Amino acid sequence: MYDYCKNVHVVDHPMIQHKLSIIRDKNTGTKDFKDLVEEISMFMAYEVTRDLPLEEIEIETPICKTKAKMLSGKKLGVIPILRAGLGMVNGILKLVPAAKVGHIGIYRDPETLKPVEYYCKLPTDINERELIVVDPMLATGGSAVAAIYFLLQRGADIRNIKLVNLIAAPEGIKAVTEKYPEIEIFVAAVDERLNEHGYIVPGLGDAGDRLFGTK
Ligand code: PRP
Ligand code: URA
Repeated sequence: MYDYCKNVHVVDHPMIQHKLSIIRDKNTGTKDFKDLVEEISMFMAYEVTRDLPLEEIEIETPICKTKAKMLSGKKLGVIPILRAGLGMVNGILKLVPAAKVGHIGIYRDPETLKPVEYYCKLPTDINERELIVVDPMLATGGSAVAAIYFLLQRGADIRNIKLVNLIAAPEGIKAVTEKYPEIEIFVAAVDERLNEHGYIVPGLGDAGDRLFGTK
């Protein structure tokens, strides 16, 4: 893992990069795309949860009593940005099965590229949880900025929010970090730029359409 800039971590593990290259390929079909997004998300969750606190407990092995480390029970929430963020949820939950899942529905208006909120259902205690906001693509950053804003409006603490994307454009990273400099972002790759339609280049195309087989 290396830092692209302050608070932006690129999880460049070979397993992740290999799988990312497969989902970038336009010939990869819906089923493989969906499975690989889930797998990459699980690998990324490993780094995202690296700073979870541990506590020491006493256990007894077949040999003797000993002290051992266990997660100290910090509450987590996974917040997919609908629709494409849904594809990342199961991968994260494989690592942290007790996390609650909240949903924020946002789509990008294809003309203005501005985010439009259409759904929001969150765990009631989001102010007590560490929140992992997931969306495969960080393009202009509009959707991520809006999702973080909705979480803050509903009582979340910015220091407890992490944003996890598979592919980011430099423009999206700039937009999020300028608005929320405290937030930590985890990405598998930072691509070159956005094209004139707001798509990431080279990217992987429309993540939602490729996950759900729509056009
Ligand atoms: C995609 C993607 C992000 C957003 C990124 O969603 O999943 O949510 O675009 O773009 P931005 O950084 O410029 O906001 P889209 O709006 O296509 O909706 P979908 O998930 O329903 O396909
Ligand atoms: N949303 C996507 O799904 N892909 C992009 O490249 C940009 C936004």
